[in-house]
Amino acid sequence: MKVYEVCFSPTGGTAAVSHILGREWDGPKEQVDLTRQTLELPVFCQEDVCIVSVPSYAGRVPSLAAKRIRLLEGNNAVAILNVVYGNREYEDTLLELKHLLREAGFRCVAAVAAVAEHSIVRTIAAGRPDSADEKELSDFAHQIRLGLEKGELGDAVSVPGNYPYRASHPSALQPVAGEDCIRCGLCAKSCPAGAISQADPTQTDSALCIGCMRCLSVCPRHARRLDEEKLAGLTARLSAICAVRKENACFL
Ligand SMILES: Cc1cc2nc3c(=O)[nH]c(=O)nc-3n(C[C@H](O)[C@H](O)[C@H](O)COP(=O)(O)O)c2cc1C
Ligand code: SF4
Ligand code: SF4
Repeated sequence: MKVYEVCFSPTGGTAAVSHILGREWDGPKEQVDLTRQTLELPVFCQEDVCIVSVPSYAGRVPSLAAKRIRLLEGNNAVAILNVVYGNREYEDTLLELKHLLREAGFRCVAAVAAVAEHSIVRTIAAGRPDSADEKELSDFAHQIRLGLEKGELGDAVSVPGNYPYRASHPSALQPVAGEDCIRCGLCAKSCPAGAISQADPTQTDSALCIGCMRCLSVCPRHARRLDEEKLAGLTARLSAICAVRKENACFL
């Protein structure tokens, strides 16, 4: 049996939750990074356990993550679903992830919805997952492992969400390079969507950009920025509706 962490985590919050869950299983975990421009996908088998993690974007699985999950071949491996969101809501994300994974041949035995810092408005859920989250998520993982060992978990865990899913919109907030850019190319290399020109990193293809904020978080010069007016509007809207701490949830 191998334990995999299959993860789409542009700014690290989703990966942080995945690693906390993964610690429940001893030994090294195989990392499958779905944000890479060139994917190396393992062949899974039915003894394997895969923690499959995505962030929620507007209550859906990010379109690029969905495209890459469709390339996986589950071969009846166990999947533990993990959706990470920025303290607003995750709406249909878990249900969509479950459908994607079942179509890819996984047994969806359990699911987690967890909160991490909002990757656009960093003041929302700042510092999460925190120590209280860590404890709760570790407890979830423990329950899941015991349930698996005792053969108590089904193949199609029941999760919240609606189908048809809520409409997905192209990202309205896309970072652009400012004049501090020294053309080091780091953002272009690490953009999951390949939206930034390698030849001239000040050029971004807005049709490819998914607004994931990876480029903004990796730029050593803080040269990539969002439209200030749009960001202020989003910050005001989200701060009003995300003031109350949302709790993590586990579905078995
Ligand atoms: C384009 C975009 C859309 C988002 N939509 C939502 C959302 O609908 N609900 C929510 O609570 N958080 C939302 N977030 C916040 C992320 O789900 C959250 O910060 C997550 O931890 C980001 O994962 P990462 O750190 O692995 O990139 C959104 C973030 C981005 C970039
Ligand atoms: S990482 Fe920053 S400095 Fe480097 S090319 Fe991108 S925007 Fe320019
Ligand atoms: S250009 Fe868009 S898709 Fe690429 S890293 Fe930046 S925000 Fe993400």
